[in-house]
Amino acid sequence: MENMEAAKDQSLLLQSIFSHVTDAILIVDKQGYVIELNPAAEKMTGWRKNELVGNHSVCDVCLGMATITNEFSCFNCFASGNCPCPSFELKIRKKDGKEILVTASATRLPEEQSGALVIILRDMSEQYYMVQQRFRMLMTNYVIQAQEEERKRVSRELHDEIGQALYSILVSLKVINHLQLEKGVMDHLIDVQQTTARALDEVKNMAVELRPSALDDLGLLPAIRSYMKRYEQTFGIETDLIVIGDKRRYHSSIETALYRICQEAMTNAAKYADTDKILVEFDSTNSRLKLRVIDYGCGFDTGHFKIRGTGLGLYGMKERANLLGGVVEILSAPGEGTKIEVVIPINEKGEPTRVNSSSDC
Ligand SMILES: Nc1ncnc2c1ncn2[C@@H]1O[C@H](COP(=O)(O)OP(=O)(O)OP(=O)(O)O)[C@@H](O)[C@H]1O
Ligand SMILES: [Mg+2]
Repeated sequence: MENMEAAKDQSLLLQSIFSHVTDAILIVDKQGYVIELNPAAEKMTGWRKNELVGNHSVCDVCLGMATITNEFSCFNCFASGNCPCPSFELKIRKKDGKEILVTASATRLPEEQSGALVIILRDMSEQYYMVQQRFRMLMTNYVIQAQEEERKRVSRELHDEIGQALYSILVSLKVINHLQLEKGVMDHLIDVQQTTARALDEVKNMAVELRPSALDDLGLLPAIRSYMKRYEQTFGIETDLIVIGDKRRYHSSIETALYRICQEAMTNAAKYADTDKILVEFDSTNSRLKLRVIDYGCGFDTGHFKIRGTGLGLYGMKERANLLGGVVEILSAPGEGTKIEVVIPINEKGEPTRVNSSSDC
């Protein structure tokens, strides 16, 4: 009698576990037909128990196992007993046709206990999404760092190699200039001298545009200041810089990101805003940095705008800020100018507080 009571208690306990676990459980007979499922399986698949049991085979729910080469395949099906690992990834098709990735394990019960297959499924959509996001951020960070490194290298090469070579040519031409030469030769020489001087200026400008040494040597604000000076000369647009808070150095990843965001916002203003004035505001506290680039130009509809270049600039700004745990806000409307605001949280050492991926450019 006591044994019977104990067995009843145990059965109730198992029934309760079956009904309440958050993992979906499907029980499938030897022909592959679903013979039992728990409420979590109903929730995961969208099928009611009475719709599935006896009417559908497991293949109506399962699209196959993920392999290294295929997102899903029926090769080595777990139900055939050939599955090489105890847990695996499955793609499930829900009743509404939506497909989800789940991790699964399958255990065949002994022959004397029906030989049915018990499949346990766990929804991993959220985790997969997180992993994908993390991977995407890691790749973005890697690409941004590689791009900055390459810019630094090319900038140095332009300055130190080509720049120096052109400078030597210019000095040699000046020496020849002092010789007694025929007028025709002298005119030609002056021409070559002017062309070389222009090429030297061009190379220097390109080197600075690629990666201003001021950014590494002097920091963000001096680099922005000298960018603004070059910008005024190039585009004839008046610029103004307002600085609120301390003037200090920040972690190089922050200085690079803010400099590039400022550069892109100002370039966009020069290309599209049709403005004659730009204001840059830099506002720092112990816990965050705020940079604003404001133009007083034509503005644009931030919901529906025509991409007039490659369309990567605004996206790149957001990615850069996001990698440092910051945000970019784009405020604009037709006829009302554009304000780009970026906020990066920092600690007292001037480092990013919430780095979304190891960022060190
Ligand atoms: N300050 C601005 N004033 C007016 N329109 C702007 C301004 N900034 C951006 N836009 C509009 O938004 C679009 C997207 O800008 P974004 O910087 O993302 O790409 P792009 O400048 O077209 O190309 P890329 O930056 O990759 O060279 C631009 O093509 C332009 O139409
Ligand atoms: Mg742009």
